[in-house]
Amino acid sequence: MPKPVQVRFNINQPAIVNTQNHFAEDVNRGLSAGHKTVPPKYFYDALGSQLFEAICLLPEYYPTRAETEIFTQHAAEIIGEAPSPVTVVELGSGSSIKTRQLIDAILNRQGSLHYQPIDISPTILEQTAEKLLGIYPTLMITAMAMDYTHGLGSLQRQKSEHVLALFLGSNIGNYNPEESREILCETRNALRPGDALLLGADLKKPAEILEAAYDDALGVTAAFNLNLLRRINEELQADFEIRNFRHNAIWNESLGRVEMHLVSRIEQKVRIEALDLTIAFREGESIHTENSYKFDLDQISVMANDSGFRQHRTWLDSEKRFSCNLWIAV
Ligand SMILES: C[S@@+](CC[C@H](N)C(=O)[O-])C[C@H]1O[C@@H](n2cnc3c(N)ncnc32)[C@H](O)[C@@H]1O
Repeated sequence: MPKPVQVRFNINQPAIVNTQNHFAEDVNRGLSAGHKTVPPKYFYDALGSQLFEAICLLPEYYPTRAETEIFTQHAAEIIGEAPSPVTVVELGSGSSIKTRQLIDAILNRQGSLHYQPIDISPTILEQTAEKLLGIYPTLMITAMAMDYTHGLGSLQRQKSEHVLALFLGSNIGNYNPEESREILCETRNALRPGDALLLGADLKKPAEILEAAYDDALGVTAAFNLNLLRRINEELQADFEIRNFRHNAIWNESLGRVEMHLVSRIEQKVRIEALDLTIAFREGESIHTENSYKFDLDQISVMANDSGFRQHRTWLDSEKRFSCNLWIAV
């Protein structure tokens, strides 16, 4: 009898119609409000995910290089301090390029791995899974194309396994203190005592470095931000004239965050057919599209304690720009 073929890749994805409803509802709510906003998770359609990969290569965008340096120097040590054996769940995995350094270290220790990436973009999950399965013959992937919080509920583990959750790239910085506490508590609730979370968190630094990181000379981050309007045009039949908006990134010192906005260059009206909605913009009025909170090390320890973890160890890059924090669930 032929041996059963082991399926090494599964993807769980909510129906497309469902995903589009959320996008439509969130755009409707955000653009009808007095202070116009659209949540940053909607940057990541197929083009947006590629633009983010290009941002990671920019000289101004230091977080990816700093976190990569930490893993290049310390991946074996980080994994050595994490529980064993593990299954890995990653929140907002994107291209998983940095994750490969951790996967290498885990495979050195346990030979095979069940990797469970959660990302809102199905395209990036599929492209990444194909690459990873080609590189690692003993890797099994269950991908979840959904919001972090939904994906965490579907986490799988063998009886003998611990969970190592990864939340890299300072994705946590996209959330205000209340929201990040909620996400970290939800992550903790999906874990058991002794499981671990590796959190990449960007550190506070001078405004000019931060603002350049989110407003590069080539205009790639501007394109990433403006792509949100193209996405609304395409998926919700809107008529945003993209050239009538400009990208703006500012460091908000009092709130400790870099803000990204799309600023209307003129007074204008935009029609979103799928929502039966017409939105008026004043000249200079903005759509607030992203926050990137920056942290100091004390804040990170407080966040760990407030969400049911204990800070175990922190690694920094050589220029002390970025931190990787291993938290243990208590
Ligand atoms: C800034 S990128 C970081 C990617 C990668 N972790 C890294 O460090 O380079 C954020 C990733 O998280 C995903 N993402 C953003 N918000 C999300 C959400 N609410 N739920 C699931 N995925 C999300 C995006 O699609 C994107 O791939």
